[in-house]
Amino acid sequence: MSAAVGVIWAQTPDRVIGRHGTMPWHVPEDMAYFKTVTAGCPVIMGRKTWESLPERFRPLPGRSNIVVTRDTSRAAELAQQGALTTSSLEDAVALGQEQAGESSAVWIMGGGAIYAEAVEKGIAHLASVTVLDLDIEGDTFAPELDPAAWELAGSAQGLGKWDTSESGVRYRFETYARRR
Ligand SMILES: NC(=O)c1ccc[n+]([C@@H]2O[C@H](COP(=O)([O-])OP(=O)(O)OC[C@H]3O[C@@H](n4cnc5c(N)ncnc54)[C@H](OP(=O)(O)O)[C@@H]3O)[C@@H](O)[C@H]2O)c1
Repeated sequence: MSAAVGVIWAQTPDRVIGRHGTMPWHVPEDMAYFKTVTAGCPVIMGRKTWESLPERFRPLPGRSNIVVTRDTSRAAELAQQGALTTSSLEDAVALGQEQAGESSAVWIMGGGAIYAEAVEKGIAHLASVTVLDLDIEGDTFAPELDPAAWELAGSAQGLGKWDTSESGVRYRFETYARRR
């Protein structure tokens, strides 16, 4: 049986996910949650998200790191840095399925361009969304999960409830499932 394909991101209520090539917040609980959810699973990301990871943290350990780029001349360099590369999201998902082994999911971990494609094309069937109660400007956004196509399957905090990070930011972990 093939692994489920999910998208995983953290956003503000206005769907901001990034600014100036990075994430404009530091919420350790969300980083820990991301690590737990994706542990042992292949992760797929766009070339810019790969570059946004500090060099010492990439490739993300314990997971096949698949990087999507249209620039085939970069593939060798990315491979040297420990990434697997493909030139389309569909190929990345196929490679992720090959790499998944016993893992239950292949996780698409950004950024905005890749999330948009995964949601628009119906490639992802699961969405793990951390909502951060922050009012900040951004230049990269999560796609909207149309309620006609996606249902909120649950929230770790209980629907509509928040936890508070040690950094002071309120957050909640939500899971959405694509309607059949
Ligand atoms: N909040 C979160 O959870 C979260 C998670 C991840 C990232 N982010 C943020 O998101 C931002 C980066 O997102 P982004 O949208 O700018 O970039 P991105 O999606 O990470 O990467 C875009 C790049 O991926 C490649 N690409 C995209 N679609 C492709 C396709 N269909 N086929 C082949 N290659 C494709 C291209 O690389 P080439 O130019 O090399 O061809 C493109 O320039 C950063 O601010 C980052 O911090 C936030």
